[in-house]
Amino acid sequence: MEWDERVYGERIAEIYDDLYDEAFDKASAVAFLEDRSRGSERRGAGNALELAIGTGRIALPLAQRGVQVQGIDISDAMVAKLQAKAGGSDIPVTIGNFADVAVAGRFDLIYVVFNTIFALTTQDDQLKLFRNVADHLEDEGLFVVEAFVPDMDRFDRHQNAEVNIVGVDHVQLSFSRHDPVTQTITSQQVLLSEGEMKMVPVHLRYIWPSEMDLMARLGGMELRERYSSWNADHFTSNSKSHISVYGKA
Ligand SMILES: C[S@@+](CC[C@H](N)C(=O)[O-])C[C@H]1O[C@@H](n2cnc3c(N)ncnc32)[C@H](O)[C@@H]1O
Repeated sequence: MEWDERVYGERIAEIYDDLYDEAFDKASAVAFLEDRSRGSERRGAGNALELAIGTGRIALPLAQRGVQVQGIDISDAMVAKLQAKAGGSDIPVTIGNFADVAVAGRFDLIYVVFNTIFALTTQDDQLKLFRNVADHLEDEGLFVVEAFVPDMDRFDRHQNAEVNIVGVDHVQLSFSRHDPVTQTITSQQVLLSEGEMKMVPVHLRYIWPSEMDLMARLGGMELRERYSSWNADHFTSNSKSHISVYGKA
């Protein structure tokens, strides 16, 4: 089977929420995003576009807080999970590649979380995203990105094998290869349980924080805020991930 952007979502949709729905600090993410949808005049919650909305892990609680959310995703299977949830069918979703931002209108907030900006696997597509996001932001609108800081120490001769979970009935392993020239990582997550094995392939292109700021500048935006967590903790050279907020320059 060849890799394309749909593979991740189609393979993981059935188990995505079991793995990730409660795994992170979702409440702080949602509070942060609602706040940034209000604009500098601190008016009521605004409108927002989630790039790669998936099963609605973030979009649904954000909509419950009064933000008018819509989304883009390339996986029918992930979007079907969102639409099966309470309130899910009220959230408009466009099926397509989020690099194109092929939706009408402008937004107070556009966001892409959980490292998913790296699902665009070429520098050209990532740069195209920044340009398209700028075109879809209100003048005071904000673009929020949650992403890991690349960690080359994970790799030995550009390879990595990890045991992520060992349970009584299951094991979760991951295997990765790294290409430092294209900045791509090709991984396979292997989930083993009694009599069953599931493989979830992931292909990504990581972006250094400084490179991301440059992409934003080339797209007509500038960095406004950067934190190491959704609780606005300081970002330092030791931070493992960042929440970056861009606005139009
Ligand atoms: C890790 S999930 C994140 C889902 C959701 N944002 C969340 O935080 O739970 C990644 C999502 O990105 C979608 N995706 C990956 N590449 C995409 C692309 N190029 N265009 C649109 N969606 C994409 C997948 O289908 C999947 O739903």
